[in-house]
Amino acid sequence: MPKSRGTRCITILMMERLQKFLSRAGVASRRKAEEIILQGRVTVNGQTAALGAKVSPESDAVAIDGKAVKADIKHVYLMLHKPEGYITTTKDQFNRPTVLDLIPDSYERVYPIGRLDFDTSGLLILTNDGNLTQALTHPSHQAEKVYIAKLGAVPTEEALEKFRKGVDLNGYVTAPAGIQIVKRDESTCSAKITIHEGKNRQVRRMCEALGYTVLFLKRVAEGKLYLGDLPRGAYRELTQDEVKHLKGYEGQKSERSKKG
Ligand code: URA
Repeated sequence: MPKSRGTRCITILMMERLQKFLSRAGVASRRKAEEIILQGRVTVNGQTAALGAKVSPESDAVAIDGKAVKADIKHVYLMLHKPEGYITTTKDQFNRPTVLDLIPDSYERVYPIGRLDFDTSGLLILTNDGNLTQALTHPSHQAEKVYIAKLGAVPTEEALEKFRKGVDLNGYVTAPAGIQIVKRDESTCSAKITIHEGKNRQVRRMCEALGYTVLFLKRVAEGKLYLGDLPRGAYRELTQDEVKHLKGYEGQKSERSKKG
């Protein structure tokens, strides 16, 4: 007679890659979390963690720089009307004001998705959802971004055509873009500009490459999100529809990765 094994109680612990856990906790995007791990700043149960380590969110104690990290925080999604004179990185070596100074601390660990220059104003999304941040900052993410720019001169038809077809920025030719003059006087004009890329200072560099100084720049829309009449310096939570729209980009990203 085979011996009876009796009843065993098996506890299955769900393990998760440390960088995924950190991004889910809203600490940073997955890529940034990998850097933090490589810098030796992350411990699991008191031991410095290596990249690739797996953790159980239920039973392991994870900390960054000695500060405990929990992965069960509620995700928040905000839109800020960033004023000029604020930086979008979360810390600044020159101690300039950051966009986080405009958001109450009760919104745990939110950080900006993408960036707007110090001297650019307008629509900025902030969240503590690392997966969404990763999808929206991926180079393949091509949501339309709409800006209003005040230019120091009225562009010629030829310059407008060049802008639309692609501008050479030191060897990188920009993708087709939109530009439409919405207001003009003798020496300046306001233009509505639409781009699908997010290169550093792209709108300013495109205009300057064609010989036009940008006097003022404001982002008014990104995908289906509109700044509307949100006052300068104010923020609001995104609606469920807006969050759903943004999360649609996460799906697109995984489809693209599957296709290679
Ligand atoms: N293009 C710019 O030149 N600056 C921004 O902040 C955003 C887009």
